[in-house]
Amino acid sequence: MNLFIYETPDEVAEAAARDFAARAEEAINERGRFAVALAGGSTPKATYGALARDYAEELDWSRVHIFFGDERTVHPEHEDSNYRMVRETLLSRVFVGSVHRMRCELPPEEAAADYERQLREFFGPDGLRSFDLILLGLGADGHTASLFPETSALDVTDRWVVVNPVLKLGTSRLTLTIPVINAARAVTFLVAGEGKAGAMREVLEHDADPHAYPAKLIRPESGDLTWLVDRAATGSLTPPL
Ligand code: 6PG
Repeated sequence: MNLFIYETPDEVAEAAARDFAARAEEAINERGRFAVALAGGSTPKATYGALARDYAEELDWSRVHIFFGDERTVHPEHEDSNYRMVRETLLSRVFVGSVHRMRCELPPEEAAADYERQLREFFGPDGLRSFDLILLGLGADGHTASLFPETSALDVTDRWVVVNPVLKLGTSRLTLTIPVINAARAVTFLVAGEGKAGAMREVLEHDADPHAYPAKLIRPESGDLTWLVDRAATGSLTPPL
């Protein structure tokens, strides 16, 4: 596991864009394509903007295939849609090879089945080989993707995508499951803000119950695990950092 600390959220975003571009170039050179699952929420918006601003010409975006780690159960034009956020910050500014959206305008179970079908079509029916990169955020409660504390999705091992009822949000979300994330060639967390310091401590330093801090369940079998964080998010970690 690699932890890189930056002074500001903008520096985290620039580092994440560099990490993304380097991994994309390697995957395209070695395998002819780059399959990446993007994180939702607010932190990664700056990374997507940096990619569109600084790497529009540097990458062969036609070889980049975009997926999502999770999605809110809303229409893709809804202001809460992760797809809408990614389209506005990145997909409207670079022409990618394909976009695989969680179609949450459908009933949730249909959307999950549809996404599993999309994944199996892309990666092959014999089980998910692996994403080249999965970007993740971290919630103040230790959730990642839409794997929230004490929710049913945490224990699913026979599906790649599930509907996850999140009582405290009063809604369900779609999310990739732990086995899919841990099969990735690389997983990179993007974390910024002092509000995440407590969760960082519980996830990285304490032996908290993983069901209480689901980001602890992210342990790639053979892939890289990288944390790109700002100084404020490390405020509760044990020095020296
Ligand atoms: C989502 C994300 C979620 C997010 C964390 C952190 O759909 O919201 O997948 O897991 O990464 O909640 O969100 P912020 O970056 O907005 O703090």
